[in-house]
Amino acid sequence: MIRTEALTKRFGGRTVLDSIDLSVGAGEIVSVMGGSGGGKTTLLRCIAGLIEPTSGRVEVDGVDVIQRPDEARRHLGMVFQSAALFDYLSVKENVLFGARRWSGLGPRELDRFAEEMLALVGLEGTGALMPAELSGGMRKRVGIARALAARPRVMLYDEPTTGLDPVTTYQIDRLIVDLRDRLGVTSLVVSHDVSSVFRVSDRVAFLEGGRLAFLGDPDEFESRGTDAMRELVRKAEARRFLESGDEGAGR
Ligand SMILES: Nc1ncnc2c1ncn2[C@@H]1O[C@H](COP(=O)(O)OP(=O)(O)OP(=O)(O)O)[C@@H](O)[C@H]1O
Ligand SMILES: [Mg+2]
Repeated sequence: MIRTEALTKRFGGRTVLDSIDLSVGAGEIVSVMGGSGGGKTTLLRCIAGLIEPTSGRVEVDGVDVIQRPDEARRHLGMVFQSAALFDYLSVKENVLFGARRWSGLGPRELDRFAEEMLALVGLEGTGALMPAELSGGMRKRVGIARALAARPRVMLYDEPTTGLDPVTTYQIDRLIVDLRDRLGVTSLVVSHDVSSVFRVSDRVAFLEGGRLAFLGDPDEFESRGTDAMRELVRKAEARRFLESGDEGAGR
């Protein structure tokens, strides 16, 4: 469903993505990890056709993203790192932002559709609220509901759980897996949250120095991973331990 071949992106003289070959099969959930500034968001933006790679190829569901970005984007949902909501639009209008144009639904059906998308992320009944009235976690979930409104076959999530409490994180992890199990959605998930990554991923990719330093089973992370990867995992686990106190125990 997703394929990059020798995907390279430079900003000025700086190579941020260096010949990345990554394939994600139908219904697979692949997580992308790596240090801050390591090119994770850039990778998602190239796959979504929002920026053009310096060289290489990108395909989504067999469609060349560089040649035919509109067609490639049709069945692709992207959840942005900052929730990227329109602050002057209600939650409902944010969710319906794209759907209003292409769905062909009437006003009452659109209302129902928005409510259905919000229910998927556990936000039923919030359609009339404005983004300023939402918590960070709710904003993220509205961003996911908006992406789901495109009825995507492929979802790209940029740090969907960063900054969320453990319960909301767990709900979003469940949602990512649920969408795969029920609708066959293929997902590429950028995450710093090691426990999330291990909970949801079929495979893990690790970006280091612009290259794909690791791509494999979460279980192989310890044995085949690089020092930088193990360091990141250790740091994340230590931080989680310090932050969680007792509440992490039952998860
Ligand atoms: N439009 C742009 N113009 C110039 N440089 C950019 C642009 N977008 C990203 N970069 C640079 O590319 C590098 C990778 O950025 P990117 O946002 O992809 O990292 P990231 O892995 O998502 O980091 P984080 O974990 O902090 O979100 C950074 O050095 C960034 O400054
Ligand atoms: Mg990023």
